[in-house]
Amino acid sequence: MKNITFAILLIISVIILAANTFIDKNNFKINENTESSAVCRPQSIFCYAKNKTQSTDCATAFIDKNNFKINENTPVAEVLQQLGEAAPSHIQNKEISKDLVVIGENIVLNGLSSKTGEGGRRQSKHFVCTSCHNVQREDPVLSVSNPQARLEYAQENGLPFLQGTTLHGVVNRESWYNGDYNKKYDPEKIKPAQTNLREAIQLCAIECAQGRELKDWELEGVLAYLWTLELKMDDLNLSDADLQRIENGIDDGAQQAELVQFIKSKYSQASPATFTDQPDNLKQGYGQKGDADNGKLIYDLSCKHCHENGRYSMFVLDDSKMTMRFMKRNFTKYTRYSTYHVASYGYTTNGKRQYMPNYTLERMSNQQIEDLRAYFERESR
Ligand code: HEC
Ligand code: HEC
Repeated sequence: MKNITFAILLIISVIILAANTFIDKNNFKINENTESSAVCRPQSIFCYAKNKTQSTDCATAFIDKNNFKINENTPVAEVLQQLGEAAPSHIQNKEISKDLVVIGENIVLNGLSSKTGEGGRRQSKHFVCTSCHNVQREDPVLSVSNPQARLEYAQENGLPFLQGTTLHGVVNRESWYNGDYNKKYDPEKIKPAQTNLREAIQLCAIECAQGRELKDWELEGVLAYLWTLELKMDDLNLSDADLQRIENGIDDGAQQAELVQFIKSKYSQASPATFTDQPDNLKQGYGQKGDADNGKLIYDLSCKHCHENGRYSMFVLDDSKMTMRFMKRNFTKYTRYSTYHVASYGYTTNGKRQYMPNYTLERMSNQQIEDLRAYFERESR
């Protein structure tokens, strides 16, 4: 009899133990009684890589709520997780990913790939990621995408003014290739990229950079580097009182949802994208009066970033009178050299080669295109 009771108890404990290993991740909340071993999240570097099985890696998972202090360097993503937000699928184990950063940095900044992070093979024959993306903050207010505010910020901070959104804070966004990018790429390719940062990186490496597909270790390297560009609490320009309020509310279930909302109101969770058309009548233009000085800024910080000395394009732009006159003459003509045309639609040829990405309205306003026109007109005189 004793043996049977013992056996039943044993079976019950085995069932309980087994049940515990199937924790429902989606509804999992941490509280003070949660055991540290249960706070595992799928954090292995390859946890979400294509065709890889999920693995749980507990190296850095335990969160100590009582000692959580916020300072200017505290990652926004960490604060959100403290407030009960689920970690994004592109999370990486920080301990593992810190060794991968050099690999990703070499790919993003130099366009070169090797396991040591020095030299190596080119990812693309034509571009590096920074041909089209900054890796620094580029907006004075992170919740607003305004091309004129960005242009002025770029000038003050010595940055180029580009078609791609900065990679600074890209890990904090929740969707990618937003708005009208739906129209540009095959839905089969873009759908996964809109909800998954790894897919977004891969899509851009192939389609935007016209390069080869990244290997798993290269992709994880790029992602590890992008995590070094994540938003910190300091980037949100919060008052001390607000920081204190967040720190005090970390543990308070009644305040968490509101605090999450408050933090998210301080930066964009997606970079908006609206395509534009060239004006119906090129001579009349968009109708705004151009500002030549502002046009010069755009020319220097944007067009010349790629076209000066043939950096990323065979088509060379400089400050000579001849170039100014050429650009002015073609601006209002239906040719492949019309700025109205290339700014709105980009410039593509068939096949794998360099091309010019279009500017969305969030990246260059119609007013700014008129400013360029005014600049070429003034410099042609
Ligand atoms: C020829 C230009 C170009 C190059 C080179 C390029 N990109 Fe992009 N990338 C774009 C454009 C344009 C978008 C469209 C969305 C946006 O950034 O606003 C984009 C989007 C992205 C996005 C999604 C951003 C978002 O918030 O929607 C990521 C991530 C990205 N690129 C990563 C990379 C990486 C990594 C590389 C280098 C391997 C790279 N890109 C190279 C032009 C480029
Ligand atoms: C991200 C890099 C980049 C930026 C920024 C850029 N371009 Fe381009 N542009 C290119 C590339 C690449 C081509 C393709 C031409 C080639 O084969 O080299 C191109 C093509 C062109 C062409 C057509 C050239 C031809 O041979 O038909 C014009 C005109 C042009 N760009 C003007 C501009 C102007 C004006 C600006 C600023 C508003 C600008 N570009 C900004 C990369 C860029």
